[in-house]
Amino acid sequence: MAIGAERLREILEVAEIARPRQLPPEEFGIAPGPGTPAAWQLLRYTLSPLEFLEECARRFGDSFLVRLAGYGQFVMLSAPEAVHDVFRGDPHALHSGEGNEFLIPTVGRNSVLVLDDEPHARQRRILLPPLKGERMRSFFDAMQAATLEAVRAWPAGRPLGMLEPMQQITLRVILQAVLGLEAGSERDDIEGQVRRLLVQGRSRYSFILLKVLPVRLLQKTRWLPFYRQLHALNETLYALIGSRRQQPASARGENVLTDLLAASHDDGRSLGDDEIRDALMTLILAGHDTTSIALAWALEQIVPRPEVMGRITDELRNTTGGTLPLAEHLARLEYLDAAIRESLRIRTILPFVVRLTKQTFVAGGREYPPGVVLCPCSHLVHRRADLYPEPLIFRPERFLERTYSGHEWFPFGGGNRTCLGMAFALYEMKAVLSTLFTQSCLVRPPGSRSTAVRRGVSLAPHDGVLMVVNGNDP
Ligand code: HEM
Repeated sequence: MAIGAERLREILEVAEIARPRQLPPEEFGIAPGPGTPAAWQLLRYTLSPLEFLEECARRFGDSFLVRLAGYGQFVMLSAPEAVHDVFRGDPHALHSGEGNEFLIPTVGRNSVLVLDDEPHARQRRILLPPLKGERMRSFFDAMQAATLEAVRAWPAGRPLGMLEPMQQITLRVILQAVLGLEAGSERDDIEGQVRRLLVQGRSRYSFILLKVLPVRLLQKTRWLPFYRQLHALNETLYALIGSRRQQPASARGENVLTDLLAASHDDGRSLGDDEIRDALMTLILAGHDTTSIALAWALEQIVPRPEVMGRITDELRNTTGGTLPLAEHLARLEYLDAAIRESLRIRTILPFVVRLTKQTFVAGGREYPPGVVLCPCSHLVHRRADLYPEPLIFRPERFLERTYSGHEWFPFGGGNRTCLGMAFALYEMKAVLSTLFTQSCLVRPPGSRSTAVRRGVSLAPHDGVLMVVNGNDP
């Protein structure tokens, strides 16, 4: 049977992506890291990522090499000076999009996540404005309404995992911010499609499956449930883009899709449907699962600590006078803000970020050749006792006593790749938690303990963070 040239190219690409890149560690002049086979390291990183990184840091110090089969070699950096150099580095010298190419089948070739250089900077210029400042604050009502809707549905007196309702809240918010969808059947349909897609993509083994399965071939089929759901969501997004194009600009509402339809390339061309779909998919997927996990972890850290809860409820009462918080109250909730930052420090969602050196690059006084993946590792930096005394203790006050720079606290990454939704996520967390804490009294069931497990690329609580609702409207 003859194989078409296109199919042959795809097979070769699959083979290429599955082959680990091997550079001799001595070339970097750094501690070599574990000597175990790359497949074993990938398995360890998949099953217990944080323990694996901590163990390596104990054995090998501030920078070490890990080898993950199929993904290549990663230089983990946990010295703040080295992280500073990477985040301040020239974007042409350090690429991140190349390192994220395994995301292309899902978010597309035009996604900001997989682009570098000028195309990357251009996407950021289009996508950032609606996710910060006044535009972001205009979504406060949507954030509060989604929270109140979730709280009202909670059964009193029996344990309930918090992750699921947090996901419902953040999905509704992102669909409104990105697509302008308000309550109704259209939103419910798309919500269902995103949920079904994510259920398929959340396996703790997805990191391994991505390398074992011929992803580039399978993505064109509907054999795997993940790709079936992806095709369905794609069709919906293309249909939505088409119908919004037909509407007059004034009827499209304020949302990211409206901005994308109005945006143009430097030569004046409008963005094509594929570019718009890739941007929408990127924001929907990057923008809600992470935030819901962060909210669940924040509840896990805050609720069982009476002294922390006490300070938060006092601050809320003093600021709002005991009523539902308003948008203008949020900026005054400084202790809640510190508690959110501390929970993002102590509970890791994405342990490190990646930068591929395109030319010789100096980080932390060490020279790296081109072709090395440098990884500022937030998990390890956030646990440094010289930056965070008694790092395993949850103490929001540290964020009131001093300011941490972008290379000392970076759950959202840094430099020219800093998370596009950082301001949005922090604002949303504050809006949701302040509303939640004025509306319900949560208690952690005695003996509960949540451990971090992989959920796709993120680390989420294995039990969803169980809470008992002891009556609403305290
Ligand atoms: C607590 C919630 C969130 C966390 C912990 C988080 C974390 C991150 C991290 C670590 C990165 C990589 C940064 C780097 O490489 O330096 C990133 C990138 C990104 N995030 Fe987030 N994120 C969150 C919420 C959001 C939200 C709400 C959105 C959108 C509304 C979003 C959209 C993006 C996008 C588009 C990128 C790619 C940026 C680029 O490559 O230029 N994220 N995020």
